[in-house]
Amino acid sequence: MDPVHLFVPSFHIDEALAEIRECLERGWTGLGYKTVTFEEAWRAYSGMPHAHFLSSATAGLHLAVRLLVEEGGWREGDEVVTTPLTFVSTNHALLYEGLRPVFADVTDDLCLDPASVEERLGPRTRAVVFVGLGGNPGRYAEVRELCRRRGLRLILDAAHMAGTWIGERHAGHDADAAVFSFQAVKNLPTADSGMVCFADGRLDAEARKWSWLGISSDTYSRTLGQARYKWLYDVEHVGFKYHGNSVMAALALVGLRHLEQDNQHRRRLAASYDAALADQGGILRVPMAAGCRPSRHLYQVLVDDRDEVIVRLNAQGVYPGVHYRDNTLYRMYAYADGTCPRARRASERLISLPLHLRMNEETVGRVADALRTAVRGA
Ligand SMILES: Cc1ncc(COP(=O)(O)O)c(C=O)c1O
Repeated sequence: MDPVHLFVPSFHIDEALAEIRECLERGWTGLGYKTVTFEEAWRAYSGMPHAHFLSSATAGLHLAVRLLVEEGGWREGDEVVTTPLTFVSTNHALLYEGLRPVFADVTDDLCLDPASVEERLGPRTRAVVFVGLGGNPGRYAEVRELCRRRGLRLILDAAHMAGTWIGERHAGHDADAAVFSFQAVKNLPTADSGMVCFADGRLDAEARKWSWLGISSDTYSRTLGQARYKWLYDVEHVGFKYHGNSVMAALALVGLRHLEQDNQHRRRLAASYDAALADQGGILRVPMAAGCRPSRHLYQVLVDDRDEVIVRLNAQGVYPGVHYRDNTLYRMYAYADGTCPRARRASERLISLPLHLRMNEETVGRVADALRTAVRGA
């Protein structure tokens, strides 16, 4: 039998090649052109007022933090409450700017627990980073409200949330900054790229300078002749080389056309998993927040003896993943070791089952059977 892998990205190859061909024919693969078109398309799709296309979500998280630090006059050692169940980019972004990640615990949906967040707030807390793990908004709305009440900034790490709708609105519309990933295995895969969406247009404008080395207008708009003397740009401050490029944007434009349909397919696969794994002793399904249409980047379950179960799944040709190890297990975040017991317990038990567009109900059934067998210890 064919192996079933965790992620197998699908591309609309002819459409993607046609879109990339346009870049090559025009002789424009860099910043501008398709990056502008994709930003417009993303704004139209998501309803976010601002969207800046970048080389990765890691870059987006860093820019979000950098600009909020600048705007708020935050100091080195100021604190941001965050989750230990995430990819390290989330927390590294805080350290890039000398902030201290303070870890709060999660609930059974594996996202931040608003009560634990509140407990961790102190005089130096400036912001909260919420991660919509696997596309799940969890109790984001309560954390949003808590931040509002306490005058804190809120960054949504929406790396998994392209196409998560909460009611009628796209996830992230009410965050100070929402950051999406279009990395190779995400719901809207390119090779590497991301998007930062600021609520405040001034921060969006600033981010455009910061992502292009502090330069005040991009080469493409200068080439279009909007500036008379193209070489006479200003550099107001230091910046990074974080902006996206037209080849990635070409892939993203095509992916976006298909995102709703693709996520619908993912939701159907998740429903099949739900049905196949309901009431199975020893397999706990991670609950999805009510009232949302999730991107379903991940389908996660919790089992005992997780590492052994994965070995047994591998023996049956099923290759799941783990999202994520409790970050306080890593040496650099070990100062917070033991502060989030529910996250630690989940981190030892969680498995992401294969979920991608080449799967169908039958493949889901095969994985579910293999999981039952693996959990029984066979
Ligand atoms: C939760 C989370 N945040 C941030 C990132 C970083 O995304 P990128 O690879 O686009 O930098 C990832 C990528 O896996 C992620 O899973």
